[in-house]
Amino acid sequence: MPTSDRPTVDVAYSGYRHTVGIAEAVVRGAADVGADVVSVPVDTVTEEQWAQPDAAGACIGTARNLGARAQKGHNAMSTTPEPHRAPTGPADTLPLRDAVRIPVLGLGVFRSPAGRATQQAVTAALDAGYRHIDTAAVYGNEVDVGQGLRDSGLDRDQVFVTTKLWNADHGYQSALDAFERSRRLLGVDHIDLYLVHWPVPGIRQETWRAMEHLLETGKARAIGVSNYMTHHLEELLGHAQHLPSVNQFELSPYNYRSRADVIDLSRKNGIQVEAYSPLTKGRKLDDPPLVRIADAHRRSTAQVLIRWALQHELVVLPKSTHADRIAGNADVFDFTLTDDEMETPDALDENLVTAWDPTTTP
Ligand SMILES: NC(=O)c1ccc[n+]([C@@H]2O[C@H](COP(=O)([O-])OP(=O)(O)OC[C@H]3O[C@@H](n4cnc5c(N)ncnc54)[C@H](OP(=O)(O)O)[C@@H]3O)[C@@H](O)[C@H]2O)c1
Repeated sequence: MPTSDRPTVDVAYSGYRHTVGIAEAVVRGAADVGADVVSVPVDTVTEEQWAQPDAAGACIGTARNLGARAQKGHNAMSTTPEPHRAPTGPADTLPLRDAVRIPVLGLGVFRSPAGRATQQAVTAALDAGYRHIDTAAVYGNEVDVGQGLRDSGLDRDQVFVTTKLWNADHGYQSALDAFERSRRLLGVDHIDLYLVHWPVPGIRQETWRAMEHLLETGKARAIGVSNYMTHHLEELLGHAQHLPSVNQFELSPYNYRSRADVIDLSRKNGIQVEAYSPLTKGRKLDDPPLVRIADAHRRSTAQVLIRWALQHELVVLPKSTHADRIAGNADVFDFTLTDDEMETPDALDENLVTAWDPTTTP
């Protein structure tokens, strides 16, 4: 219990296995800024783990920010920690910060042509049970995503909409203006998740202040980043007042191990990882190890890749403009990959990049 009327940091992460290190860090961060700690699951972190460079690096920025937020009267850890359980359908959700929840499966619309093709893909997805659409300003189809939402007849609050700030729009005022353009094109009063599309060097810190403003004013329910690798994320953790809720980057069995560091860093800081290009843009759908697993379950290799991502607790964003594939890609909640079947794809790593490669961006 708090020992005074100083601000408190409520840490309720016990049992949340990705946050090893945060509890200890919060104690230090809270002390730094004179906040009390209500409860800390000290059993989740050992001195040995804390001594690891990545644990310290991952947590120290977070700790200060959490403490500072507590001082301002915010609940430092407002995500709802919950033990992992297998999702039961496409509308099933995972917790983000600030009591926001995100559906585990989202329809991606990159290279989904503007006009009817995207509108129909969105309505097909919503008919098939998806409740999450992932677009971006640069995809040029936000207006069609918005039309698809309205055509579906679903209430606005039943669908989680993500869009992204394009590289040319970095900077404080430019980011606010870009957000407003996206919001209008989508025809919505708020955006559920607004992401920085790419860690543009030199200016991304200023951009993040605009993202925080959008969060604080309720225009975006959650904010996050995309294509942030370890060094980008460490920089952000060092200066953010509001940590990102999400980090979206390319993930499939073909690069999962190569990206273990950024997955760990994200999770240690309560940042949900989203997998884009989860189907490798179709390149690996005939890969024999995947075909063998798919045959064993009488499923497609696309379904195996999506199921693999879900079992890794990733939010997964397959793209298709074909209604049958869109429905099939969501039909992945009634089978389970065995430990062996999870490990086989994990061993396929070849550092595959089918989109763009952020690792060399300073
Ligand atoms: N933040 C970023 O920088 C970033 C970068 C890339 C992607 N993303 C997001 O992630 C989403 C997905 O990534 P992606 O579009 O690069 O690729 P993807 O989802 O890995 O693959 C899409 C490709 O697979 C095909 N496909 C889909 N379902 C299939 C199935 N069941 N059987 C066979 N082929 C199938 C699609 O063709 P059809 O459409 O013809 O069915 C398309 O050619 C994007 O749409 C976007 O929302 C974000």
